[in-house]
Amino acid sequence: MTNFTVIGGPASQALAKNLANKLDANYIKANVQIFPDGESKVTVGDKPTGKTIVVQSTHPPVDSNFIQALSLVSKARETSSQVIAVIPYLCYMRQDKEFLTGEVVTSAVIAKMLKAVGASKIVVVDIHSTLAIKYFDIPIRNVSATPKLASFFKKMKLKNPFVVAPDLFWAPQAKQFAKILDTESIALNKQRNRKTGELEIKQSQKRNFEGRDIILVDDMISTGGSIVKAAEYLKRRNCGRIYAACTHALLVGDAEKKIRNAGVLKIISTNTIPGKTNAIDVSDILAESI
Ligand code: R5P
Repeated sequence: MTNFTVIGGPASQALAKNLANKLDANYIKANVQIFPDGESKVTVGDKPTGKTIVVQSTHPPVDSNFIQALSLVSKARETSSQVIAVIPYLCYMRQDKEFLTGEVVTSAVIAKMLKAVGASKIVVVDIHSTLAIKYFDIPIRNVSATPKLASFFKKMKLKNPFVVAPDLFWAPQAKQFAKILDTESIALNKQRNRKTGELEIKQSQKRNFEGRDIILVDDMISTGGSIVKAAEYLKRRNCGRIYAACTHALLVGDAEKKIRNAGVLKIISTNTIPGKTNAIDVSDILAESI
């Protein structure tokens, strides 16, 4: 057994257990009780030994899961001089700048809080904004799930696949994904109205999607709006079957239904957020980063 303890936060117990196995580490399951007013009461039953790794994703309920992550790091710090916060899906990373006057840059607030409770290092998977990394003045490791997602699709029998990012933002990852599949990629020009949240796909480079199977790739699917818009755009251009691949499947509300109704055959995600679309375990790449 290595000199590591993994504490599995309430939001990430299965993944934390896989990570503990990969690291041959001691495993402690943290428990949570939610008070009637919504407060989280977090308990860590056993004392961690050696270097401690706290695993807790921060998907919805976002703020509760985040305060639990902070509480666990703080508790672990009482007995360990080194606490690695593994937050596979790190929340608030879309709020990385003041888009409209007066907006708070919450990504920076998150970074300050993690440092304040005593995290010595942060490990995340596919952080939404690499810009936000500059707000962390403790080491942060951003692990990419793209090679694992692409390898999964490589094993499928797809017809002349085309890798499509719903927006320009995820274009480099779409390119990397396509390279693994030995095919081409494109990023659509998605625009979001910052006030209303309305999405629109503006005319992108003209490409022929006719009859080609599409893999829509993104870092996260939240409401499903981006995937739906992209699927509609591609269907109008007579593409073949459509699949969606993402690292973080938040799938808020009826997102999954909306995506299916838009013609997407299957959603494939990693297990950074537990759910039924999970097909790829990231514990091995997390273990490597530690
Ligand atoms: C945007 O920049 C992101 O990469 C995702 O495309 C977006 O956050 C997904 O959100 P939704 O599913 O609500 O469109």
